[in-house]
Amino acid sequence: MVQFEMWDSDEPVPRLELLKKVKGCDGILCVLTEKIDAQLLEAAGPNLKVVSTMSVGFDHLSLDELKKRGIRVGYTPDVLTDCVAELTVALLLATSRRLIEATHEAKTGGWGTWRTLWLCGHELANSTVGILGLGRIGVAIAERLKPFKVKKFIYTDVAPRPELANMIEAEYVSFDELAKQSDFLAVCCALTQETHGICNWNLFSKMKKNAIFINTSRGGVVNQEDLYEALSTGLIAGAGLDVTTPEPLPTHHPLFTLKNCVILPHIASASYTTRNAMSALAANNLLAGLRGEPMPKELKL
Ligand code: DGY
Repeated sequence: MVQFEMWDSDEPVPRLELLKKVKGCDGILCVLTEKIDAQLLEAAGPNLKVVSTMSVGFDHLSLDELKKRGIRVGYTPDVLTDCVAELTVALLLATSRRLIEATHEAKTGGWGTWRTLWLCGHELANSTVGILGLGRIGVAIAERLKPFKVKKFIYTDVAPRPELANMIEAEYVSFDELAKQSDFLAVCCALTQETHGICNWNLFSKMKKNAIFINTSRGGVVNQEDLYEALSTGLIAGAGLDVTTPEPLPTHHPLFTLKNCVILPHIASASYTTRNAMSALAANNLLAGLRGEPMPKELKL
């Protein structure tokens, strides 16, 4: 039998309360708003055997601290791939075809006579799409974009990933070439020490003027000051962000003032089907971990 206590609210559990409640627990099921760090693991104490996060991202978990204590970790890859890829395509189109600006204009009286260049954007046909960090989600995005007649897929990663790349006929290029060649650049890498702030002036300054930058991974991979500069000076054409630093992004943040920046509140995996699948997988990971059995999706530490 498993005894559990549930935080029955959509708001994150206050840190102090969490630190109190985890004391003596054998397992924790968390979401990405909970930092599972040394302080929390100390508060939980030596009973803790498993942490199961209802997310594919694990940058909120201190993996070194978990490993040091022999605590197993479950996460939720695969079940959200389709949903995240679908949202990424929606965000890409909303940004490149200026849909948010357009509905605003239509609603607020900006819609005058038909004008030749009004609200023109950039199309996918004959374009080069770049993927920064090729994994399951990058492949799923490319599969969805292919029917839009994309000319070429390119990607970069720490090393070539031929098995995945062959599925979408993507060519491995250097980071600089990715910046230079991409008409659309989708960020799909995990947030790690190596990728923190990797999308900065160095990247934006090499990109094309017509380029559209899309991020559905983690806000931490982007230097937002540099992105603001790139967008406001026309160095790149637009950006679509599902993730920011911090989250929520304060409503007075300069990025919200830009027409060429579409910001969503971290909803890439937000479909009923996917969130249900994620919570079932997270629960099954937790139970398997508690029983000392193989987890359906365990993160190898
Ligand atoms: C994840 O799972 O890491 C997503 O960012 C939230 O669904």
